[in-house]
Amino acid sequence: MSRILVTSALPYANGDIHIGHLVEYIQTDIFVRFLRLIGENVVYVCASDAHGAPIEINAAKKGMTPQELVGEYHRRHQMDFGRFEISFDEFYSTDSPENQKHSELIYLRAKEKGHIVSREIEQYYCERCGRFLPDRYIKGECPRCSALDQYGDVCEACGAIYRPTELNDAHCAICGGKPELRTSRHLFFKLMDFADFLQDWTSSPGHLQDEVRGFVRTWIDQGLRDWDISRDGPYFGFKIPGEENKFFYVWLDAPIGYIAATEHYCSNKSDISVEDYWINHESDIEIHHFIGKDIGYFHTLFWPAMLKAADYRIPNAVHVHGFLTVDSRKMSKSRGTFITARQFADHINPWFLRYFYASKLGSTIDDIDLNLEEFVNRTNAELVNNITNLISRSASFLNKRLDSRLGVVPQSCEDLKTQIFSHVEQCYLDNYIQRNEPWAAIKSDPEKARNDLTFAINCSKILAILLKPIIPSYSAKVEEILAVKDLKWEDIQFDLEECSINTFEKLVDRLEPGTMNRLIEVSKDDLAATEKKTKIPDFKEEISVEDFSKIDLRVGKILSASDVEGSDKLVKLRVDVGKEIRTVFAGIKSSYSPEELIGQTVAVVCNLAPRKMRFGVSEAMVLAAGSPGGKITLCELNPEAMPGSIIK
Ligand code: MSP
Ligand code: ZN
Repeated sequence: MSRILVTSALPYANGDIHIGHLVEYIQTDIFVRFLRLIGENVVYVCASDAHGAPIEINAAKKGMTPQELVGEYHRRHQMDFGRFEISFDEFYSTDSPENQKHSELIYLRAKEKGHIVSREIEQYYCERCGRFLPDRYIKGECPRCSALDQYGDVCEACGAIYRPTELNDAHCAICGGKPELRTSRHLFFKLMDFADFLQDWTSSPGHLQDEVRGFVRTWIDQGLRDWDISRDGPYFGFKIPGEENKFFYVWLDAPIGYIAATEHYCSNKSDISVEDYWINHESDIEIHHFIGKDIGYFHTLFWPAMLKAADYRIPNAVHVHGFLTVDSRKMSKSRGTFITARQFADHINPWFLRYFYASKLGSTIDDIDLNLEEFVNRTNAELVNNITNLISRSASFLNKRLDSRLGVVPQSCEDLKTQIFSHVEQCYLDNYIQRNEPWAAIKSDPEKARNDLTFAINCSKILAILLKPIIPSYSAKVEEILAVKDLKWEDIQFDLEECSINTFEKLVDRLEPGTMNRLIEVSKDDLAATEKKTKIPDFKEEISVEDFSKIDLRVGKILSASDVEGSDKLVKLRVDVGKEIRTVFAGIKSSYSPEELIGQTVAVVCNLAPRKMRFGVSEAMVLAAGSPGGKITLCELNPEAMPGSIIK
């Protein structure tokens, strides 16, 4: 039996999985599960794409190491994929020793054969941040339409594509500073050396969809330019062997992550090795990649060329899908349609999304629309009312009236059988029960009723097999009800006869239209919450323990509190700080009334120079937190703390 290796693109470990990503993982997973169902030996690998400037910059912003940030998203992705039943055999990371090994090997082989050149380029550098700026980290005014605040590579207002140096009033998107142009030596992969090979590989049948082949042809015709594969530090990635402070560009080692994931899989679970998958040319294992149309250039040109350069095996096919739109528009945070996998699964059964995507996906690269109304209608009409009703009605009837025993499939069904095999998805199966009216037949001819229901049960069994790749745990529940196990493709037959079934258990609830709106609202709310979080100010410069210990911080108890006439911000407090009682004017009136304050135990700075105010002298300061939402909260201490105790 031949073997097949299947991959989905490696998600960036820099954000949550959303319903757009899921188009790809669900599509690939259905393909993989179908192959397994028909008995193929298939391995499905994926990994976190861990490297690159955005991950490094975001980690720094959050005060984490890139490894910590990546680890966090890796875990979150695993959970999300689990909930949507994505059945990876391996979900690894590009920040792994296997990946480093293959990246270095591929690079060094390419270099040895003269496919790597180096050249000086001019690039923006931010002195304040101490780094070269990737295009996405430079903002300015579009040179064509003058729209403000556009990225360094493309204008989102007019669609112009340009170089960052063409932007007017360019500034660093991280710190706002003015970047300067600096030269740096970069390494390039000479894609042109592979023009003939790529021409040949991309045009021979089976490797690409026709539509994609058309795109690739125009890319090749436009000329294959040298590809910049190096980045200067600081950068989160692998150091380039033999270079000082230079790292592989994330897109060099990302696809090599497919190989690393395969190797990690083999080391744990396989009887064969990574060489059989990726290196030995005698091997007949097929390699299939699934990707979105935005990353076609990388997978159809750079990737096969890199593999060729290093004498690795070349993939058999790259399958490209379109992008998800919601109600015909791009997913949007402000419209609440940028829905994460987690938000979705918290509100809606993941089966429904798998089923819906399955009904929409095909072999084109057209965008896939999640029309919310259609989603609700299709789920209810097909999955709930038709497919599920068939088994729910027939199994319940058999349970209640006919001892859960099946009879034989009536001969008269031959015709219907053929119809069902030829177009299962169009059969309105539930009509069969409707037409044969077992509830009437049971009175006059119970065995006829039993046989009619047996036919219906067999239809449900066949549907469960067909649905296995699409909604696997749904089919598993049907198997449970029908008292069968591990149905395979060969079991698509009307052969469940004269045996017992189990008690019907509810399979699925209708999808209420209001649920979609609630999901959209939740996605908007979550966005608002993250936006608040991003308003949290940066940390101040470091201080020593000695600096900190200069502050005389004590426990204080508020004895009295009163409004200050003529001030809308201040409250006047008398605070017991152990050795004496201090008067404090605190700017907390917007959040506290005097009555709420009396008796509170609070943290007080006692050695701050007294401050003369219009209303009197403030002799200490009580600590309070100002939140981004505008509310002030006092640092309340445990009431048992004794006034005057030192806080450290
Ligand atoms: N890290 C790269 C892939 C490296 S593969 C060696 C990447 N990551 S991604 O997280 O941005 O996207 C992962 C996959 O999801 C890509 O194939 C991408 O096309 C797909 N999608 C991301 N957003 C999508 C939609 N809105 N709709 C459909 N697919 C989408 O690219
Ligand atoms: Zn900067």
